[in-house]
Parts: sequence; structure tokens; C-alpha cells
Amino acid sequence: MDRYCVFGNPIAHSKSPEIHAAFAAQTGQELTYEKRLAPVDGFAAAVQAFIAEGGLGANVTVPFKLDAVKVAQALTIRARAAGAVNTLHFTEDGIVGDNTDGAGLVADIVGNAGVPITGKRVLLLGAGGAARGVVLPILEHRPAQLVIANRTVATAEALAEQFAALGGEGVVSACGYGDIEGAFDIVINATSASLSAELPPVSPSVFAPGALALDMMYGASPTVFLQFAGQHGARLRDGLGMLVEQAAEAFSLWRGVHPATAGVLQSLRAKL
Ligand code: ATR
Repeated sequence: MDRYCVFGNPIAHSKSPEIHAAFAAQTGQELTYEKRLAPVDGFAAAVQAFIAEGGLGANVTVPFKLDAVKVAQALTIRARAAGAVNTLHFTEDGIVGDNTDGAGLVADIVGNAGVPITGKRVLLLGAGGAARGVVLPILEHRPAQLVIANRTVATAEALAEQFAALGGEGVVSACGYGDIEGAFDIVINATSASLSAELPPVSPSVFAPGALALDMMYGASPTVFLQFAGQHGARLRDGLGMLVEQAAEAFSLWRGVHPATAGVLQSLRAKL
């Protein structure tokens, strides 16, 4: 049986085995997908052990997405742009590192929520690893504007500078939360503030009428950011769709077939 896994620490909570089992059943692919707890200082060894056992690929979650960059012998363009790897493919020619998080986010916005990014004003809150991973896939859809806002403004500026040329004249910019100007069609919370029930201090005026507000986090109840966005008229979306879509992208890379995601998302939602 072809073997895959997800590495993390902790890993008990991961929904990836359930998602990939559903994809495999749906597409008639024979494979196993397990959770692997790797020691915080032992990621590379854990990967080598899995390869020795016949593993063909792996997903990588917290805290190993940067370690996975080092383990990979080649990186896809989007993994290089993200500076992080969430998907490893063990090929005859070596270990390939990819990053499907950003493509997953964009697929969720465009495909599932039905909101085109092209020509829209997009506000990205946060400039850490999660934000970095989505900038290239967003720019590939040619937004009219991408503003990156962060508590530490210098980090947002560095990120904006890295992608400025790709975005086109004046498309990508950076600022602090208090300096955001205008209203946005899509507002994405890529900060980890929701983990501690905190809210990036943005003005309600950032939400254009009918705006889509998306939080990369998910849970049984809406995050404080989604509650805030909802109070100011935005359409709400949590990170569960992004989770399922990044998995579908990884599955497609490994197996050459892109699974349908709607049913899987629905059944995960019912269990939250
Ligand atoms: P991740 O991989 O989840 O992006 P990270 O790289 O540590 O984690 O980045 C965390 C992001 O959340 C950063 O943008 C951080 O802002 P700073 O760069 O100013 O630290 C942001 N963040 C975390 N807690 C926050 C809070 N309470 N309010 C606003 N932003 C917060």
C-alpha cells in the first residue's frame, strides 16, 4: 500500500488523515495516511525514517514548515516564495518541497466562496509565516490592490517589498493597522491573534459593502475577528475550507488526480 503521513508536534488534533482517507475513497486510490509525532529537534530524522519505511509523501504542520525547507532537495516556486514547505514528495530523484497553503486559500475564496480576486482590493492582516505563504497565489489572480497590514510594520514592509515587482505598479503595499486606508472586498486574517481570542485592531471601515472576511483559523464557534467582521456586514469564512483545499492540492501533487472537496468540507464542518 502507498504510504503518506503528516508530521507535526503536537499532531493528535490533525484532521489530515480523515481528509486524505476521504479523498482516497472518492478517487479509488489505494493508500494509507497516518499521523506522525516528530520530536521538535528530530524532524529530518523522522522524515528519513518514513522514507526508509517506503513513504511516498508527507504533509508538514507546526512547528516543522521551516525545517521541511531544509530537508527538501528541490523547492517549487510557490514553496520558495512562501519560505515554507507544507508538502513533501519523495521521488526517485529526491525530496521535493511544495507549499499548497496559498493555493488552498485561493481555491477556497475563488472556488468555494465564489469571490473572484481579480481586480479586487485585498487586505491581508499579518506578515508572519501564514501571511507569507499566501501572497504569491493571491498576486497570481491579479488583485487591483494588496495591502499587507501588521502590528510590526517593518515585517509587513519587508514582505511587500519582496513581492512588489510581481504585483505590478503600486499594487502591493504595507502599513500598520492604524494606517489602513479605504475599504476592501476581501479581508484575510493571517495573524495568530485568534488563537488568543485577540483582534487585530482594524477599523470597521475596512469592510466594503458585501466584503468577504476570512480567518485562517477555524473552530466550533466563530473567531473574534469573524464576529467583528459579521457585526460590520461582511460575509464570513473560516479556515476549514482552506484546510481541505490545501489537502486537495497535496493529494493532487502525489496522486495526479484532484479530488472533489465539497462533501469532505461539509462532513468536517458537521463534526466541529
Ligand atoms: P504564523 O506562522 O501563524 O503566521 P508567525 O510567523 O509567528 O505565525 O506570525 C504571527 C503573526 O500574527 C504576525 O503577523 C504577528 O504580528 P507581529 O509580526 O507584529 O508579531 C501576528 N499577531 C500575533 N498575535 C497578534 C495580536 N494579538 N494582534 C495582532 N497581530 C498579532
